[in-house]
Order: sequence, then C-alpha cells, then structure tokens
Amino acid sequence: MQRTLVLLKPDAVQRRLMGQLIARFEAKGLNIIAMKMLQVTPELAKQHYAEHVDKPFYPSLESFITSAPIVALAIEGLDVIKVVRDMLGATNGLSAAAGTIRGDFSSSRQMNLVHASDGPEAAQRELSLYFEEAEICHYEPVLTPFMR
Ligand code: PPS
Repeated sequence: MQRTLVLLKPDAVQRRLMGQLIARFEAKGLNIIAMKMLQVTPELAKQHYAEHVDKPFYPSLESFITSAPIVALAIEGLDVIKVVRDMLGATNGLSAAAGTIRGDFSSSRQMNLVHASDGPEAAQRELSLYFEEAEICHYEPVLTPFMR
C-alpha cells in the first residue's frame, strides 16, 4: 500500500467541484485516510512548491494557491501515486485527455483543480506538510463488488 497527497485547489472549492472530485477517488476504490480544508499561507506555498519558487510563474502560482481555501486529502491504495496522477491527467487542462479530471473540468495550466504528489519522496514530504501522523485514520474499507 502507498500513500499520496492530493490538494483540491482554490478553483475546485470556488467552482463547488469538491464532492464530484472526491467521488472519483472513492469510485476508483482508493481510501481517503485524512482530509481537511485550510487556507494556504505564502509560507506553506513556498514549502509545498519548493522546487518551483525560482521559476518565473511562481509568483502567480503562489497568488493562486493562497487565493481561497483548499482541501488536502491523504489517499491510500495500491500504486496510488501513479493511479491518482493518471486520474488527474496532464498538468495543462487544455491538453489533458478526456476522461481525466483536468481533461473534463479544466482548460488551464494554473487553475487545474487538483495537485497530486509525483513520486514516493514527494508524497512523504508533502503529506508531512499538511498532516500529523496522528491525523491519519485507519479503517477497513468495505469492498464493493467491482473491487474484488
Ligand atoms: S507537474 O504536474 O508537477 O509535472 O507539473 P509542472 O509543469 O512541473 O508544474 C508544477 C506546478 O506548477 C504549476 N504551473 C504553473 N502555474 C502557473 N503558470 C505556469 N506557467 C505554470 N506551469 C506550471 C502547475 O499547475 C503545477 O501545479 P501542481 O499543483 O503541482 O499541479
């Protein structure tokens, strides 16, 4: 089992897409093991996007990610990092494949609704930015027939 961090970004909250997006992860058979709504501060944004802070687009990205609340989710499942990235689609909503979250709901590179960790090290680092280990929940999911 693997864990990943997913953020429903300000555009997902403001467009009232939270429920639809969370439903996709549940329908896929992934386990949501922690979830919270919060306002990202400039300090947290710089930590989260540490590898991008020197890029020309960073000021705009920080302004966007701090513009309204987000929802952070810890999600667990088999190969969940790749499974979730595949569900999100390409970074730029314009080129994201139909059927992916960004392909279906976004036409933007910045306002692309969802963030997900891109590898095991990023997942561990990013999860620790948003959740204490004590906030991670443990439970036995009920398997629906299509998951068996
Ligand atoms: S990815 O998915 O991490 O490989 O995408 P990447 O291209 O590396 O982009 C990383 C995050 O930066 C955002 N981004 C931008 N924001 C504004 N303007 C421009 N030009 C731009 N390019 C990239 C992009 O939405 C990614 O955000 P996250 O939250 O990681 O999806």
